[in-house]
Amino acid sequence: MPMNNSIIQGDCLDILPTLPTESVGLVVTDPPYLVRYRDRSGRTVRNDDNPGVLAAFTDIYRLLKPDSLCISFYGWNSVDAFFAAWRGAGFRPVGHIVWPKDYASSRRYLQACHEQAYLLAKGTPRIPAEPVKDVQSWEYTGNRAHPTEKAVSVLKPLISCFSSPGDLVLDPFAGSGSACVAAALSGRRYLGIELEARYCEHARRRLAGVSRCLDRQTQAGGCHRRTV
Ligand SMILES: C[S@@+](CC[C@H](N)C(=O)[O-])C[C@H]1O[C@@H](n2cnc3c(N)ncnc32)[C@H](O)[C@@H]1O
Repeated sequence: MPMNNSIIQGDCLDILPTLPTESVGLVVTDPPYLVRYRDRSGRTVRNDDNPGVLAAFTDIYRLLKPDSLCISFYGWNSVDAFFAAWRGAGFRPVGHIVWPKDYASSRRYLQACHEQAYLLAKGTPRIPAEPVKDVQSWEYTGNRAHPTEKAVSVLKPLISCFSSPGDLVLDPFAGSGSACVAAALSGRRYLGIELEARYCEHARRRLAGVSRCLDRQTQAGGCHRRTV
């Protein structure tokens, strides 16, 4: 199984068990929120009705190096299931990150105007010299390629803070590949796993663009947002 700079198509519950223990420096992931998501145009997210996907955290924990971190977005309304999976795997929550949004993703008793993720520790990771704030800036992607696409600008500061150049960053629920793009642009290796072929193809195209851009970077001085 290619580990370096790959997007693998398949079920992470089948693929993760085949990967080597303690090979991953940081996990940044955005699993199904377990809310039966459906956007205005009717798009859904696979397994968003299946709490069984959270079993992936057992292997995520095994794959991480000792004293390292996992950043996991989650759905607040399924927090019990997420906590059971995280704690059952061995993780210790060490922080919570909130992204205020200037628009509401949904509206019921409240307007849902933030995203959220937990910072989860395996062992005792070192404290960063310059920790990032636990309230971060949000950018809306427009969700053109994927119904719940995260912006690279949202993920990059976390990857820079919680991993080192050359580390392998894993996203087992990779979607359009944003975490892998953020890792590549930060000088990290990446491994993404995604169930849906169309998102894998999109992610691979984006990452090919990043790779071309990084190759040219020394001459041109930077990757344009349009490219990635
Ligand atoms: C919340 S979305 C991730 C979106 C991603 N952060 C992005 O920026 O595009 C979750 C993704 O997990 C994928 N998925 C669901 N179950 C999976 C499984 N068992 N193995 C791999 N991918 C899975 C879905 O197809 C979906 O693309």
